[in-house]
Amino acid sequence: MENFSFYAPTYFAFGKESENEVGKLVKRFGGTKVLIHYGGGSVVRSGLLDRVKKSLDEQEISYMELGGVKPNPRSGLVYEGIDICKDNAIDFILAVGGGSVIDSAKAIAAGAIYDGDFWDYYTGKRVNQALPIGTVLTIAAAGSEGSPDSVITNEDGMYKRGSSGEGLRPKFSVLNPELTQTLPAYQSAAGITDIMAHLMERYMTNTTDVEVTDRMIEGLLKTMIHEGPKVIENPNNYQARANIMWAGMMAHNNSCGVGRSQDWASHDIEHELSATYDVTHGAGLAVVMPQVMRYNMNHDLMRFVQLAHRVWNVEIDFTDLETTANKGIDAFQQYLASIGMPTTFAQIGAKEEDIPAMAHSACYGNKRTGTIGGFVSLNEEDVINIYKM
Ligand code: NZQ
Ligand code: ZN
Repeated sequence: MENFSFYAPTYFAFGKESENEVGKLVKRFGGTKVLIHYGGGSVVRSGLLDRVKKSLDEQEISYMELGGVKPNPRSGLVYEGIDICKDNAIDFILAVGGGSVIDSAKAIAAGAIYDGDFWDYYTGKRVNQALPIGTVLTIAAAGSEGSPDSVITNEDGMYKRGSSGEGLRPKFSVLNPELTQTLPAYQSAAGITDIMAHLMERYMTNTTDVEVTDRMIEGLLKTMIHEGPKVIENPNNYQARANIMWAGMMAHNNSCGVGRSQDWASHDIEHELSATYDVTHGAGLAVVMPQVMRYNMNHDLMRFVQLAHRVWNVEIDFTDLETTANKGIDAFQQYLASIGMPTTFAQIGAKEEDIPAMAHSACYGNKRTGTIGGFVSLNEEDVINIYKM
């Protein structure tokens, strides 16, 4: 295991009706004038936005609203939010929605106290300071509720890029699994896939002797395999929703990624698909991830054998380790298909003629240096090969 420091000071309020705590939590973390940020309307239709406002009213906290965040959130609305904050002395941002809303809120929070262009933070500058953020999560997926990360698409060039920094960690996150019961099956499945991807990206490591985090990741993956199909079958299964929601937070606040190198090639390759076709992040990952695993398999065959055996219950054939490893990846792919995720380029509307441009953007676009991936270093040609698979 490598040396690490880990500080993840987000306060979590988990469980039924926890959204009614929002007013008290905003007050506790110093908010007096709030910008409520939300998406395309699901929180209006469910009545959640009204409950959140009531909770702020009860604490006599004033607020403004900015809705309209799209999945794969865009820079245009971020600039609008930054202006609102600067013009109205906003001191707290409250994101009510999914990862897209939270990421947009984080970008606004960083830009609101920065004199330059907020996009600087998405081309390498770390976010050490931002306005404080709170979240009320409505989908278990991105893990942004406990992460110091944000992903935004710049409409000037359609680059989808990530930013990171302690300033972006939410002060609090409200996690009520009931709120996720209104999700369409496809969004639930995409969320499940993203959570598993965050675990797989960490599992693909070159660091040895990482038993504790290996076992944590394997446990969380097994939880997702067990609980995922339950919510696809019955969206109102509260207990399964609850287990998935906490797994989604654990998968990405980095408690199981510390002390080890990580990969993230699948995410970089997927982000080009989201940027080009506006495909749902989890659905893009379902297509990309198994192929990245097959491409990288021989870099450390035993890691894939371990994954196949411990997580997918594949019996190890010591005379043919490659087949054992492949069986694990097959099982993963079958699982994704069984919960309704796409597994081919055609199913997400991707086109072969776009491959060179996407591979180039993944490796060189917007200040990239030519290779991606912390497990295996992949160049433009490798990325082209993976898209073709
Ligand atoms: O916009 P509304 O109307 O709210 O509808 C949303 C949206 O259409 C809907 N939805 C959310 N909660 C709902 C609901 N519909 C009914 N009932 C509910 N309870 O679901 C759709 C998808 O929402 P979105 O926020 O886009 O989903 P998700 O949480 O998967 O976020 C995806 C974004 O997060 C980024 C992705 O790249 C993508 O842009 N990621 C962020 C990360 C981070 N900040 O740490 C890490 C991830 O790897 C990921 O890259
Ligand atoms: Zn993701």
